[in-house]
Amino acid sequence: MFPESHISFFTELLQDRCSITEEDLKKYSHDETEDISRLPNVVLKPESVQEISQILTYCNEHNIPVTPSGARTGLSGGAIPLHGGVALSMEKFNRILNIDENNHQVTTEPGVITQVLQEKVKAKGLMYPPDPASKGSCFIGGNVSENSGGPKAVKYGVTNEYVLNLEVVLPSGEVIWTGANVLKNATGYNLTQLITGSEGTLGIITKIVLKLIPHPTHDLLMLVPFYNAETACKAVAEIFKEGIIPSGLEFMERDALIWTQQFVGESSVEIKENHAAHLLIEVDGFDPDILMNDCSTIMSVLERFETDEILFAESQAQKDTLWKLRRSVGEAVKANSIYKEEDTVVPRYELPTLLRHIKRIGNEYGFKSVCYGHAGDGNLHVNIIKGKLTEEQWEIELPKAIRALFMEVVKLGGTISGEHGIGLVQKPYMDIAFSGNSLDLMRGIKAVFDPNGILNPGKIF
Ligand code: LAC
Ligand code: ZN
Repeated sequence: MFPESHISFFTELLQDRCSITEEDLKKYSHDETEDISRLPNVVLKPESVQEISQILTYCNEHNIPVTPSGARTGLSGGAIPLHGGVALSMEKFNRILNIDENNHQVTTEPGVITQVLQEKVKAKGLMYPPDPASKGSCFIGGNVSENSGGPKAVKYGVTNEYVLNLEVVLPSGEVIWTGANVLKNATGYNLTQLITGSEGTLGIITKIVLKLIPHPTHDLLMLVPFYNAETACKAVAEIFKEGIIPSGLEFMERDALIWTQQFVGESSVEIKENHAAHLLIEVDGFDPDILMNDCSTIMSVLERFETDEILFAESQAQKDTLWKLRRSVGEAVKANSIYKEEDTVVPRYELPTLLRHIKRIGNEYGFKSVCYGHAGDGNLHVNIIKGKLTEEQWEIELPKAIRALFMEVVKLGGTISGEHGIGLVQKPYMDIAFSGNSLDLMRGIKAVFDPNGILNPGKIF
């Protein structure tokens, strides 16, 4: 039961920015995670820090769950209001507050679409590199909360490497800044990095200060077909061992590319019968000659492996098409079948072994998987396809298979999420990645920030 008095309080505070319409409750009941949803009791759309502070103070007093909600593009269930209560939408916090060209920084509110922020700073010659596949619709606040990655992470790092300072409203209603707008900071515990990636469980982020870098002026892109998927994975580490750091090094298994071409209505990439996987390799920088040299080095590495003819993107339009294909794989797989997506990550050199384990475990448990992802980071997205599996296989046997897979991942020195977060769907497997002592420390931190457990309850552990 959700008392009417709560709705009255929120309506008085926010007027029509407090909603209990069926349409809104449904809209905020899910993100992009598989087919999971839970209805909130009320959707709130605050537009000031003060309103958030008042909402949290009230919810803390009345033990009302609060699930922060961005653009709801997440893949681990972070924005699903598992225990009902308030869905706290940050969509009104959609202003870029200051682009500081003197210091290469931007201060933004969390509800700005990542690509919009990237384009605004690019107009000033600056770059904000992290570029999750959903960059055209996801919010920067969600990226900070989940510590998102994307293809560029392999050269430029993930979100946390750009977060300098955060304004955060605590469950008590108090407002803090976590750090300072500086590039180095050896001052006390690093609250900025603690909040980054905390999946909305510690506080509500209301302002974000990000580091920027000069925007590269040139890039080259190639698509490389391999006859064997493990061979493609083997080639990855060898490229780095020659001293090249590509600005993108993506892996797509055969079905990933076939389904995606069908999904986006594209047929420009010829996928032959004997193509098992592709690598999409980008280099970027400021000097075209250096980039050509980098490509020659990469090609000389690839000569050591069996590949078909390499496709070099000849125009911006062709580059855009190839990247669009890569970015659409997740959506294409989702459109194809009910699926579960794992976000495995291992040290780069272990990638071929990881792929072998995925296929072996798939054979043992009878599931098909489509793998793709950020090979340069050792980060493989494993999409497990429901296909013809029975409910029992899906609900009872599959978690055992996922557990077996994660055990192998951890044995290889990896962990259970590279960039999608733990949220709801990876929660049952945290004991594989962490000892009881480590999990207790995390629970202790959670209790310091949020003693009543109102913020995004039911996530991470
Ligand atoms: C991608 C998302 C799913 O890499 O992380 O496409
Ligand atoms: Zn990804």
